[in-house]
Amino acid sequence: MSYDVIVIGGGPGGYVCAIKAAQLGLKTALVEKRDTFGGTCVNVGCIPSKALLHATEMLLEAEHSFDALGIEIGKPKANLGKLMAHKLNTVEQNTKGLVFLMKKNKIDTFRGTGRVLGEGKVAIAGEDGGTQEIEARNIVIATGSDVAGIPGVDVAFDEKVIVSSTGALEFGKVPGHLVVVGGGVIGLELGSVWARLGARVTVVEYLDTILGGMDGEVAKQFQRMLAKQGMTFRLGARVTGVAKAGKGAAVTFEPVKGGNAETIEADAVLVATGRKPFTEELGLAKAGVVLDERGRVRIDGRFQTSIPGIYAIGDVVAGPMLAHKAEEEGVAVAEIIAGKAGHVNYDVIPGVVYTSPEVASVGKTEEELKKAGVAYTAGKFPFTANGRARAMLQTEGFVKVLADKATDRVLGVHIVGFGAGEMIHEAAVLMEFGGSSEDLARTCHAHPTMSEAVKEAALAAFSRPIHM
Ligand code: NAI
Repeated sequence: MSYDVIVIGGGPGGYVCAIKAAQLGLKTALVEKRDTFGGTCVNVGCIPSKALLHATEMLLEAEHSFDALGIEIGKPKANLGKLMAHKLNTVEQNTKGLVFLMKKNKIDTFRGTGRVLGEGKVAIAGEDGGTQEIEARNIVIATGSDVAGIPGVDVAFDEKVIVSSTGALEFGKVPGHLVVVGGGVIGLELGSVWARLGARVTVVEYLDTILGGMDGEVAKQFQRMLAKQGMTFRLGARVTGVAKAGKGAAVTFEPVKGGNAETIEADAVLVATGRKPFTEELGLAKAGVVLDERGRVRIDGRFQTSIPGIYAIGDVVAGPMLAHKAEEEGVAVAEIIAGKAGHVNYDVIPGVVYTSPEVASVGKTEEELKKAGVAYTAGKFPFTANGRARAMLQTEGFVKVLADKATDRVLGVHIVGFGAGEMIHEAAVLMEFGGSSEDLARTCHAHPTMSEAVKEAALAAFSRPIHM
């Protein structure tokens, strides 16, 4: 069987690439080893976690806001079985939708583990032990990433007591004390889910801040909000051991700056210390595909690996490990293969943490601008001064707009607050078009909306806010 493109990996990078390639008239095959398409994101990542995050956020609202809003419902109670059913149903709707999209776009799909045999050839090992070979002018590697574990620490994941993000999506009962190793995105999102369901949650983080790499002011205020919700933080602490102890586990950590080690007991431990590119079983070394020093597939500006006609995208290459970044790369590489000008603007990739409130960001942080020696103006506006936020009892947080001091071009926007993950996109569109804080501030925003805080923060950067 011969194709124009074979895509290995059916996650957001791979399936989007396959659809775009098919739309551009290329004969396309997609190889996936799971039973369902969608990769980590749809099956055990973004989608199921959002089902749990939404449901438990509703619980939080019912517990803490309904009374003040004038709604009496008695004491709300979570039903873990039903929550999990909602999660599974959400995943299933998405995976079924992907089967439909593959058929609609006439993409040939192969179930099995793909291996690159060299230029133009892929072997697919099926579960039955059989292997078949298919050929194509172009191969796209989109095999994603896997749990990295803790560097230098032996962690025996059983996905019941010592879990990765996968196990943390399906605890059979709410852990009494959940210790989260790593105060990054996964740790805070899934830690939030179980905290809302009643677990005591302790986050142990190596850095002096949670959400390292996010804007420092945002991270600091966000940590205070999570602490108010009951999460405990041990920062500047390097975890050196995670081990089963009795029915639970013990987590040992030491201050990064030096000092005595400490061990805390937990009913469950979520290890969320990052992910690593997944290149196993692909036969890359034999095929001559070169990896970089961090095990990622090395690509050029056109996503091509060291072997002509073999491309790579998504978590398996450099850059943020985000589904939407992989999707953009999937579209771009399909366009390049079809002879068009595919391109990804890496300066404008939004990042969202789906906690309550949400944290969202696009472009540069203040720390990055300072480090690069860029002169900038910063405009800030708090949701406490926004009428809609008051009406919804969602006044926590703020918007910050960072613009180039000389040109006023917007370089970064950071939001912590209700609906931040939706609001961030007006900033992304503005930045994609090279807009200024004046452009943003002079764009009429509907009243009353949370988004008016974005306009006001832009006004604060370029002139003065009206409502403060
Ligand atoms: P992460 O890189 O976001 O955070 C890992 C944290 O673990 C870091 O803060 C690091 O300092 C800490 N750490 C590392 N070793 C440690 C040690 N020995 N002791 C204590 N702390 C230690 O990784 P995470 O949260 O596992 O997420 C993996 C990937 O998945 C990330 O690239 C993330 O962006 C992506 N993701 C994105 C989501 C979103 O966009 N909403 C949701 C979930 C995951």
